[in-house]
Amino acid sequence: MSQSHGQLDSVMHESRLFPPPAEFATKSQIGTLEQYQELWNRAAADLPGFWAELAREELHWFEPFTEALRWNEPVAEWFVGGKTNASYNCLDAHLDAGRGERTAIIWEGEPGDTRTLTYAELHRQVCKFANVLKGLGVQQGDRVSIYMPMTPELAIAMLACARIGAVHSVIFAGFSAEAIADRNNDAEAVMVITADAAWRRGRALPLKQTVDDALKKSPTVKHCIVLDRVNEAVHWEPGRDHWWHDLMREASEDCPATPLDSEAPLFILYTSGSTGKPKGIKHTTAGYNLFVKKTFQWVFDHRDEDVFWCTADCGWVTGHSYVVYGPLSAGAAVLMYEGAPNHPAQNRFWEIIERHKVSVFYTAPTAIRAFIKWGEDLPKMHDLSSLRLLGTVGEGINPEAWMWYHRVIGGERCPIVDTWWQTETGGIMMSPLPGAIATKPGSCCVPLPGVVPKIISSGADLVADDPKQQAGDKTEVPGGWLTITQPWPGMLRGIWGDDERYREVYWTKAPGRYLAGDNARRDADGYYWIMGRIDDVLNVSGHRLSTIEIESALVSHPAVAEAAAVGRPDELKGEAVAVFVTLRNSAPSDELRQELKQHVRTQIGALAQPDDIRFTNSLPKTRSGKIMRRLLKDIAAGKESVGDTSTLEDYTVLATLRSDEE
Ligand code: PRX
Repeated sequence: MSQSHGQLDSVMHESRLFPPPAEFATKSQIGTLEQYQELWNRAAADLPGFWAELAREELHWFEPFTEALRWNEPVAEWFVGGKTNASYNCLDAHLDAGRGERTAIIWEGEPGDTRTLTYAELHRQVCKFANVLKGLGVQQGDRVSIYMPMTPELAIAMLACARIGAVHSVIFAGFSAEAIADRNNDAEAVMVITADAAWRRGRALPLKQTVDDALKKSPTVKHCIVLDRVNEAVHWEPGRDHWWHDLMREASEDCPATPLDSEAPLFILYTSGSTGKPKGIKHTTAGYNLFVKKTFQWVFDHRDEDVFWCTADCGWVTGHSYVVYGPLSAGAAVLMYEGAPNHPAQNRFWEIIERHKVSVFYTAPTAIRAFIKWGEDLPKMHDLSSLRLLGTVGEGINPEAWMWYHRVIGGERCPIVDTWWQTETGGIMMSPLPGAIATKPGSCCVPLPGVVPKIISSGADLVADDPKQQAGDKTEVPGGWLTITQPWPGMLRGIWGDDERYREVYWTKAPGRYLAGDNARRDADGYYWIMGRIDDVLNVSGHRLSTIEIESALVSHPAVAEAAAVGRPDELKGEAVAVFVTLRNSAPSDELRQELKQHVRTQIGALAQPDDIRFTNSLPKTRSGKIMRRLLKDIAAGKESVGDTSTLEDYTVLATLRSDEE
């Protein structure tokens, strides 16, 4: 980390620019650059006032707030004194407005079963389930773990907790019993909501069995509610275990939403730190709800007729913010899919888009790289003309993958929003507004209104703080630490049970501002480029290089599907560049290896030319699809120990990579 203070050298050249299509911009809420700039400037001039006005317009208040922001770094309280309820804002607000018969959730199960829930029906189910929770003794402030497949019941469980002020902790249904127990214990959860099993690539994944193992080590959990999804035989503990359908049969439909303090905790979501114990990121009610609603409307340019599909699982923050709370607060029709993208075949996503006439599609670069590998013939078999906007999140997208997405999925007519944000930020922080901002492949473009980023280096500001700074500032800023200088409503309110760690991780290395843990640069048009995690930087002959830039150069070669670049200790250069590459269709060979080295050399220069290239069938990834460069670094250095692998998706990848060593 001592090396991480300096500036980063950018070697990437990207000059393609895609202005918003005129027809798209005409229909957009924010349809010109000037409109965006006006909004951003207005927000920056008076952040609390800007958000307070939106909060009054966008949320239902049982009691109005008296103070927009109380900021006592690093503790933020937004909309102090107010009372609201996220479940009310997602459901009742639409019923009150006479929009109860509109579609809320269009769901497709992996085996092909489908269900559609209107807002009125979703409201009914949520009220019943909230009464179920109350009936089992769940009280305001209690923590409830949710370990479920992507079914409407997962959203219902989240919204039912929110309705009564219970704090949900959704655990992605691929985690082990150990991981569930750790999370139950850290949060002192009183209940786990699960299913008998989940469908995954045609097989039943035994969720209840995993929960049973976890509950042997989760002393605080008193009850377990089980959804019958797959009709699997399960072990049963009378008194502790209850079937979802049995409890729902008896439950009343009458359950008014509890008025909750603005700062009442809404959820905890565990995310892995770079090492060690998972962090329970805490989000609260009003600020989070407002932030995800507004960012949803801005970034996805929401229109009434849209069918919005965010492919993320609710086990991740993307699912919380842009499957559940953002779109439902905005009254959108949300598509939810239960299963794998390649079941029963690799065209499943395109089939879904065609069948349900999806208009806005939001997915992750890891998925896009898989689609590229599977070939463009598959999407071409389908009518994707309903799409009008595409989005990505989770990692940087390499410019060539962006171009493929634009051409093959977007038919060269759909803008792409590359959205940069984090579990900690609650919602999208930087992204193009698709009707107003011309996009550049690989750039997350501009900060959203109310978000004030600053890149710093050597712990000092590269550009002085300018209280009167304006949107569209075109000062170029070299690569350094990305920080956020002002609190925003969706920001995390801490790490569950560990205030000290919260302060230390996010607020001490760059005093006075939020440290995101990513590197970024700003170009001469004022556009931001994320350069990877601070810890992943390579230092080659005294030049600090970004992982993303080297990877993007490799992915621009037609043979390459995915690439991961890491530093390996080298006596001469400090670090040598080691890359791991998966190929689209070509076979690995020495000639290809030479060709790729040459390719990087011509694309971005001799400095970044890889010293080692290893071909592999797959890269180690987290369960949410991010490449785990930390593990690759150890492999490249020939180290045995690979640190914490609890979030690794597929252990066999590591073994294969080791046996592939040159
Ligand atoms: O490194 C950045 C990367 O993902 C991190 C946040 O991960 P997580 O908390 O799991 O949230 C993912 C969903 C919001 C960031 O610190 N990241 C996310 N989006 C982008 C990105 N890197 C580059 N470009 C993005 N658009």
